[in-house]
Amino acid sequence: MAELTVHAPAKINLHLEVLGLRPDGFHELAMVMQTLDLVDTLTMRPTADGRIDLHCDAPDLPTDADNLIVRAAERLRSHVGLPELGARIALSKRIPIGAGLAGGSSDGAAALVGLNALWGLGLTADQLHAVAAGLGSDMPFCLNGGTQLCFGRGEVLETAGLSDPPALAVLLIKHGDAMVSTPWAYGRCRELRGDFYLEREDEFEQRRSVLRRGPLVAALRGEGSLPRLRNDLQSVVAAEVVSVSEGLTLLAAAEEALAVAMSGSGPSLFALFADLAAARRAATALAGPLAAAGFESWCCRCTSSGASLGTSAAVQANE
Ligand code: C5P
Repeated sequence: MAELTVHAPAKINLHLEVLGLRPDGFHELAMVMQTLDLVDTLTMRPTADGRIDLHCDAPDLPTDADNLIVRAAERLRSHVGLPELGARIALSKRIPIGAGLAGGSSDGAAALVGLNALWGLGLTADQLHAVAAGLGSDMPFCLNGGTQLCFGRGEVLETAGLSDPPALAVLLIKHGDAMVSTPWAYGRCRELRGDFYLEREDEFEQRRSVLRRGPLVAALRGEGSLPRLRNDLQSVVAAEVVSVSEGLTLLAAAEEALAVAMSGSGPSLFALFADLAAARRAATALAGPLAAAGFESWCCRCTSSGASLGTSAAVQANE
């Protein structure tokens, strides 16, 4: 195979509930994640020299083993016992870096999908899921994409009958200078709220049931209006990162916004709208205040695809 292209979409969290602490030190979560048409692109070709060579058009991004693409490639070839496999991978970056949009995880998931095909390994979806779960909590979701309920560390996925993407559009914003470390955000959450964490599996399951049967999942199926969104890391991060509280206030002022929230551990923020035209009207109306406060913005659609080969339905937002 000469050359292959893989798309790696961004995700947002429509729900992020911290249930408790797990024996492995990670947090037990109940989330709803959604992929967007804001997409990184990986182009890859096989090499005979056994090297994993990554090149990226974003100068700030590491291209060594700190990059999940390189880690995914190395893990995949050792998983199949073929350390001599090599690839040259070019990454075209559109998803903002370090934003809580799973850009790194999605790139890693795309590397797994692409190299499985490029190297002719024939791993099944379940086998790829297992490799992905060993590399990052969000990575299994990034393989599948769409709208999914994510439990456990984030790697236990349920589609909950949400096969069609919700007919919602997203205005996404990220402050140019804001950075949030995910381990810091979870650590701070534990300091502030650890005394109230649930401890038993039946308590976790009760919260999962509430989410499955709750108003958010119903609204995403097109039954009823969107409730207020929940992200338990939002108040933790907003207390320390001024731009998060400022950005949420700006988005909430958008006339047609149906809901606003932070994605993941931030610092990116989003507002949901009934359609792309409404999201674009809000982006235009807020362009001045957003730019003055140092925010970049993107208007996106919700999609049903995760990491995927070829051109597929992935559309570059903001073109
Ligand atoms: O799995 P991933 O490498 O993306 O996680 C990054 C960090 O986020 C973890 O090291 C942990 O500190 C925190 N985390 C957590 N519970 C989760 C997922 C992530 O505490 N379910």
